[in-house]
Amino acid sequence: MKNRRLIVEAFGGPEVVRVVTDASAPPPGVGEVRIRVEASSLVFTDMLIRRDLYPVMELKLPLTLGYDLIGRVDAVGEGVTAFSPGDRVADLTQIGANADYACRPAEGLVAVPDGLDAVQAEPLILSYLTAYQSLLRFGKAARGDTVLIYGASGGVGLAALDLCRAMGINAVGVASAKREALIRGYGARFVAYDNANAARQLDQIAREIGGFAAILDPARGERLGIVLARLKPGGRFVAAGFSAALRRAKGQFTGLAGLIGKIGFGLQFLTIKIKAARSRKTGRVAFYDISETRQKNPNWFREDLTALFGMLSESAIHPLVEGVFKIDEAAEAHRRIEAGDVQGRLVMDLSDK
Ligand SMILES: NC(=O)c1ccc[n+]([C@@H]2O[C@H](COP(=O)([O-])OP(=O)(O)OC[C@H]3O[C@@H](n4cnc5c(N)ncnc54)[C@H](OP(=O)(O)O)[C@@H]3O)[C@@H](O)[C@H]2O)c1
Repeated sequence: MKNRRLIVEAFGGPEVVRVVTDASAPPPGVGEVRIRVEASSLVFTDMLIRRDLYPVMELKLPLTLGYDLIGRVDAVGEGVTAFSPGDRVADLTQIGANADYACRPAEGLVAVPDGLDAVQAEPLILSYLTAYQSLLRFGKAARGDTVLIYGASGGVGLAALDLCRAMGINAVGVASAKREALIRGYGARFVAYDNANAARQLDQIAREIGGFAAILDPARGERLGIVLARLKPGGRFVAAGFSAALRRAKGQFTGLAGLIGKIGFGLQFLTIKIKAARSRKTGRVAFYDISETRQKNPNWFREDLTALFGMLSESAIHPLVEGVFKIDEAAEAHRRIEAGDVQGRLVMDLSDK
């Protein structure tokens, strides 16, 4: 039973990813199941891990990439009673899921309906869950509200637009000008960040509607004070990532330029965390972290992901999978992610199909 894995032995660009083949799959430990992976992540966050730019986790080399997975249990470790071989499950792994097999604690797994296509359902774990919990749990957005979504053409942003459409929440999406038709296709208003009037247009919309009920920001492209002024009283700002700063770096993550970039990126992260700590009581500013949220509220992870699988089963949501890659094609997927050449999501297909 061979086990292919996508590994990183030295941090760096897309060229550092490599496929290794182990002679056998690892056995599950106590309380674990082994999963035959069907589909796994190829996302911006995998790129951050590959470059050692991921601020919320200490990374040790060599590592296997892969932030999440869908697959079937194929072996059960001692003490596991909740799952049996053949059960279909999903998990958030942070690393380790770009592989044929992964051993995971049974405790945290979420059941996946048999009828769902693994490649279509995989974006629900990291991208959709981030959008769902940022909008609803942290942003408290509700039907009829108007929300602002930065990075609206990416994995998280497009998931947010899809969820808004399904839930009757009005959305304004911010992305580059070439994504206008895509974003308007979700019934959202559109503002291009690469247009000199972007800030004025967003201020104008905020004035028209009396401020946004929630702002979801996985990009962090504008000054925080400017963005917060667009909230309505009681509105909530939820940051989730820094794709704007990382995009601007254009692959310059080494040498002096890289160091300056990393310091700037770290300062942005720290500023949001401090503001979030100060507004803990009101919830006005939050930094959403999917793993921390899961750790603090394991039930939310199970309930919300189950709700998302239900929505997909009923065709209430429609993840946009722009590209499907086999494990030996992963370097090309990483190149596209790093170049910002993706609408929606790329997915790794590990099935035998
Ligand atoms: N905190 C968490 O738990 C969590 C969970 C998931 C993801 N994330 C983070 O969230 C971020 C986004 O992830 P993703 O998977 O959605 O990335 P992605 O697919 O690469 O999308 C990035 C988006 O940002 C947009 N963008 C780039 N520069 C911008 C700017 N100056 N202003 C507004 N939008 C801009 C891009 O638009 P164009 O393509 O049109 O340029 C694109 O829509 C990443 O930093 C990721 O690590 C965090």
